[in-house]
Amino acid sequence: MSAPILVLLAHPELRHSRICRRLAQEARARPEVEVRDLYALWPDYVIDVEAEQRAVEAAARLVWLHPVQWYSMPALMKLWLDEVLLPGWAHGRGGRALQGKELWPVLSTGGHARDYRPGGRHGHDFADFLRPYERVAALCGMRWRAPMVLHGAASIDDAALAVHAREFVHRLTAPVPAGPRGD
Ligand SMILES: Cc1cc2nc3c(=O)[nH]c(=O)nc-3n(C[C@H](O)[C@H](O)[C@H](O)COP(=O)(O)O)c2cc1C
Repeated sequence: MSAPILVLLAHPELRHSRICRRLAQEARARPEVEVRDLYALWPDYVIDVEAEQRAVEAAARLVWLHPVQWYSMPALMKLWLDEVLLPGWAHGRGGRALQGKELWPVLSTGGHARDYRPGGRHGHDFADFLRPYERVAALCGMRWRAPMVLHGAASIDDAALAVHAREFVHRLTAPVPAGPRGD
């Protein structure tokens, strides 16, 4: 199956997830969205690179949906970048497969928003931890869409999660704007 909106879900323990699992569930209900659960597809960390590249090629919007772990992405998401975003395909000479596509990170954190600031518990604004994501997008000629981040995951109640999920679906299925890419 291929779809214009591709969600790459990367959660190492999805059955224990509350936030990402809920968002993935909502995304799966939409016909124009394909959700690829990387940990279910590649439990042994042996990624079918060609299958992943075909799915990406068919999409206009690429969503990275994952919990923040160690201020970064889960291991299989990182391996996906290492193995799928090859030179000559994603970047470098002749590498134009991702040109003009949109990259939209949708993330959750245990840390509270107030703690992501200079001098705070996590030392930096949250956006600072997303610089590598932004640069991946730029290097591959993708258009960067402002991330959607749910902070303080452990203390969010059901009503707030429902609001978050609704807003996620709204943004997920909004038309992908045409235009020049952002760096
Ligand atoms: C191994 C591990 C590392 C984590 N690292 C961070 C972190 O660096 N910053 C943070 O705010 N939360 C961190 N967390 C908390 C998760 O981000 C949080 O539990 C998750 O986003 C909740 O979403 P879920 O319900 O989909 O699992 C970590 C959790 C685990 C298990």
